[in-house]
Amino acid sequence: MNIDMTGLTVAIDGPSGAGKSTVAKKAAAVAGLVYVDTGALYRTVGLYMLEHGIGDEDEEGIVAALPRVDIRLAFENGVQQVYLCGEAVGDRIRTEDASRYASAVSKLPPVRDFLLDMQRKLAEAGGVVMDGRDIGTVIMPDADVKIFYTATAETRAERRFREQRERGMDVTYEDILASIVARDKQDSERETAPLKPAEDAIVFYNDPYPIDACVCWVLGVLTRAAWEKARKQ
Ligand code: DC
Repeated sequence: MNIDMTGLTVAIDGPSGAGKSTVAKKAAAVAGLVYVDTGALYRTVGLYMLEHGIGDEDEEGIVAALPRVDIRLAFENGVQQVYLCGEAVGDRIRTEDASRYASAVSKLPPVRDFLLDMQRKLAEAGGVVMDGRDIGTVIMPDADVKIFYTATAETRAERRFREQRERGMDVTYEDILASIVARDKQDSERETAPLKPAEDAIVFYNDPYPIDACVCWVLGVLTRAAWEKARKQ
């Protein structure tokens, strides 16, 4: 492809389990952009609290512990790694407990402020696809492309149910749906940086489409944005 997409800034927001990271990672690789997973930062703050015995409802305790949360982000062979107090977090941030903590800490304004600079610096460097909840609204309000990537709660629950069953986990569709609905509510009703599409975002419901079709759709949007950006320069 001879349209250069490497200077773009791309914000992909949307609810939990919509498949943002999968589509963002694949599209970034084809477009020559760096993929930044901002959820991993909130998960890492949550993990610190979890591993230090601070309750997920203990707002004072969480805020008091923040200065001790030493987070470093590195890109190793183009893949994001998060270090917490010098140690790679790996899959420790992907457990159910870590997800619950991530959702709890992410609603606290001091936690959002704590992670703001790191995200803004990455955004300023350009050439990024960042996914999260407030990327198009707060972190990169001037992004070249804003996509709100979503699917109904039922579709997301069905996908997660199938995935977890395949891994041999004893789960029910109803429980998964209930936890997705609860997390959506928490993420979209919080006062600071609630989950909502930016006014100029393209809202994409991916329910009927296989992942490759979604990646092609995202790349189509990026190609057009890169072409328009080049034309203006
Ligand atoms: O995308 P994720 O599921 O890894 O995100 C984990 C939690 O962090 C989720 O509850 C929402 C929150 N989050 C946020 O509030 N803002 C972001 N930019 C990214 C994630």
